[in-house]
Amino acid sequence: MAADWDPQAYLRFADERSRPFVDLLARVDVDPRQITDLGCGPGQLTPLLRSRWPAASVEGIDASSEMVQRAVADNTDPLVTYRQGDLRAWRAGPICDLVVSNAALQWVPGHLDLLPGLADELGTGGCLAFSVPGNFAAPSHALLRELAGAEPYAAHTAGLERPAAHDPATYLDALARPGWRVDAWESTYLHLLTGPDPVLRWVAGTGARPVLDALGEVDPALRARFEADYAAALRAAYPPRAYGTVLPFRRVFCVAQTEFA
Ligand SMILES: C[S@@+](CC[C@H](N)C(=O)[O-])C[C@H]1O[C@@H](n2cnc3c(N)ncnc32)[C@H](O)[C@@H]1O
Repeated sequence: MAADWDPQAYLRFADERSRPFVDLLARVDVDPRQITDLGCGPGQLTPLLRSRWPAASVEGIDASSEMVQRAVADNTDPLVTYRQGDLRAWRAGPICDLVVSNAALQWVPGHLDLLPGLADELGTGGCLAFSVPGNFAAPSHALLRELAGAEPYAAHTAGLERPAAHDPATYLDALARPGWRVDAWESTYLHLLTGPDPVLRWVAGTGARPVLDALGEVDPALRARFEADYAAALRAAYPPRAYGTVLPFRRVFCVAQTEFA
């Protein structure tokens, strides 16, 4: 079951969430005319593609109507368009030189099998560049799974969508082949967050969203109780310091481009 996204909640940590997108683009060495941003979300990062490649047109695609509406409302660039769509159904038009996806593929079950097909859509000079969170074993997610799997929440949280991703070596193995150069790596960012329960506010906009939404639909009081329990567990795992709360966040990156680029 896929819950919808809340652009406002997601954009709370827009600066921190932009880091992997910028670091990903730094490793892309092609000169695209047409760029596709798969799972573009509210479109806050898509304009960075035009800043980096001013001559290129950009299309952002996202499955969430709320996210696409926000992206369209904020867009002022005639060379950037957005549409609602499932990235699994994406096929390149006559020209597509660069496909970018930031923090979206982890929501697509079995996305590893999708990658060679995405790369095949690109011609000579093409590039597929993506990043995914690599923090699903971190306390923020382990505590979420543990708490959501216990009563009284378990009855309402079974079968919910759950993000997942692979290690860099697995992505490299899926995409490396003759004629392609693949660069895969990982980074752990130490985000310094401020304000009350910042880790809860961070995950409420992303990984914890399906659980919180499902509980809220059953009973807002049940969601509030879960949030209080989860917040207490997160405070113990990520203790606030005088200078703020440190959230270590591992990200996984992969850039595959044809050797002719
Ligand atoms: C965490 S947000 C990332 C947004 C943006 N790329 C960024 O880096 O800020 C994940 C996005 O992936 C989208 N998404 C998830 N599954 C998708 C699918 N199958 N097709 C298209 N978009 C999808 C969600 O709707 C959501 O907007």
